[in-house]
Amino acid sequence: MKDLSLHLMDIMQNSVTAGASHIEVLVRAEKKKDLLTLSVKDDGKGMSGETLRQVSDPFYTTRTTRKAGLGIPLFKASAEMAGGSFSIESEIGKGTVVTAVYQISHIDRKPLGSVADTVTMCIMGHPEIEYHLILENDDSEFVFRTEDVREQIGEVPIEDPVIIGYLKEMIMEQTEGLFGGI
Ligand SMILES: Nc1ncnc2c1ncn2[C@@H]1O[C@H](COP(=O)(O)OP(=O)(O)O)[C@@H](O)[C@H]1O
Ligand SMILES: [Mg+2]
Repeated sequence: MKDLSLHLMDIMQNSVTAGASHIEVLVRAEKKKDLLTLSVKDDGKGMSGETLRQVSDPFYTTRTTRKAGLGIPLFKASAEMAGGSFSIESEIGKGTVVTAVYQISHIDRKPLGSVADTVTMCIMGHPEIEYHLILENDDSEFVFRTEDVREQIGEVPIEDPVIIGYLKEMIMEQTEGLFGGI
């Protein structure tokens, strides 16, 4: 995958498949610490301890229970090859948090790519879900909630192309301001 936002898309899709009704995406760039954190948190069905052990290990999992799924192993690899770390916390019936941390300056860190495209595509595909997007750098923070958007647009569906276009513009502007160059 050529950029981190495509990994993000894959991890958000897992949350959708897990039946989440809320998905929270965090992108945090700590330039002073040279760390970029991406995380996806959901209230989906969660994973058992056994599944959790299997999903992080591409060799074990591809050979036995799983056929194709490489979303998590690839996301994990993207962090580990960029001087970072990876973790999953999950509880059956409660939800899952997947977190990848990257060394911003690492030569093998992929570019962030378009978080705006990833998030708006997910909203278009699954407009029944509520999304929270938290964007942070050392100096400021931007929080976006689909609940707030719905309140403002009233009867207009959130997946309306005009609304999606507007949201994409807004998220692009924020990510450019907070993470420009990352
Ligand atoms: N957010 C999540 N909630 C519950 N289960 C999950 C979640 N993310 C991943 N899983 C479990 O881990 C498996 C592996 O995920 P992944 O590596 O993305 O491959 P795939 O989605 O193709 O199966 C999924 O099939 C699912 O069983
Ligand atoms: Mg997947």
